[in-house]
Amino acid sequence: MNAFTKIEDLVMPLPLETRGYTVAPSKQSPRLLELTFARETVDAFVKAVAEWPVQALEYKSFLRFRFGEILDELCEGTLRPVLLNTILGRSTGGMLINPVGLDDVSQAEDMVKFTTACAHLIGRSNYDAMSGQFYARFVVVNTDNSDSYLRQPHRVMELHNDGTFVNQITDYVLMLKIDEKNMEGGNSLLLHLDDWEQCDEFFRHPLARRDMRWTAPPSKNVTEDVFHPVFDTDAEGRPTMRYIDQFVQPANYEEGIWLNALSESLEGSAQKLSVPVPVGSFVLINNLFWLHGRDRFTPHEGLRRELMRQRGYISYQKPRYLRGQ
Ligand SMILES: [Fe+2]
Repeated sequence: MNAFTKIEDLVMPLPLETRGYTVAPSKQSPRLLELTFARETVDAFVKAVAEWPVQALEYKSFLRFRFGEILDELCEGTLRPVLLNTILGRSTGGMLINPVGLDDVSQAEDMVKFTTACAHLIGRSNYDAMSGQFYARFVVVNTDNSDSYLRQPHRVMELHNDGTFVNQITDYVLMLKIDEKNMEGGNSLLLHLDDWEQCDEFFRHPLARRDMRWTAPPSKNVTEDVFHPVFDTDAEGRPTMRYIDQFVQPANYEEGIWLNALSESLEGSAQKLSVPVPVGSFVLINNLFWLHGRDRFTPHEGLRRELMRQRGYISYQKPRYLRGQ
């Protein structure tokens, strides 16, 4: 079966078949596609980029795109159209990507290279103020006293969008699992806006379009507040969101009560997906119509989890014959 044939509004012609990887709907939802790269493809990619350390990618932005091209060439040009159509297609917009053979923390550099290649086939990753790089690696351990829930294991990290408190377009979010030890629980939680039972109700509320203030805690290295509404629309008038519970600052009682109701509705949704992400695998979602979060973990003294994220904007050129029809 061809898992991506239902995508409307193609931005690029889809290949008749994929090469070097497979696509299938995930167990959790047909909206979340699972891409599995064959070990030969992964090995060939790792070999082809071996001469450049991750530091070379940090220094030279254009090399990130070349890594994308190398991976796409190994897939005989079938990868970029599938990634772009999936991330932009409203009926999908989400992927769980498994590069077979990249499954140990000792391969962390290769994992970063592989994710960078995928991200730069759909757009460009933003500067991440937390790390000062185009990606950020961070560790979750049993004890933490940081100033947000990002690194605190025993709590659910509620559903949210990324990039809500920065003035950067954040179309996609990529989350890679680099390492995991003594972990029980902690699945990724995902919710597609079109699956959320009360989306329409909140989207139509007068407060949905009111500018609200968003601030970041000190660890994010972002000092300026930004102002934007919780909801916006895509080119077709469908709802998109820029929302996170921890960093929105309601101006008054009315806004506070509405935001609390919205938070409870999201957390209570029966449509939330719970997705285990194995070491070396990553989630790549459209940040405008997918919300993400993390389930709680069981405390353990030896608990360690290392993650990497990239966030950025989507950019592509539609082939001439698909333009302006
Ligand atoms: Fe996030």
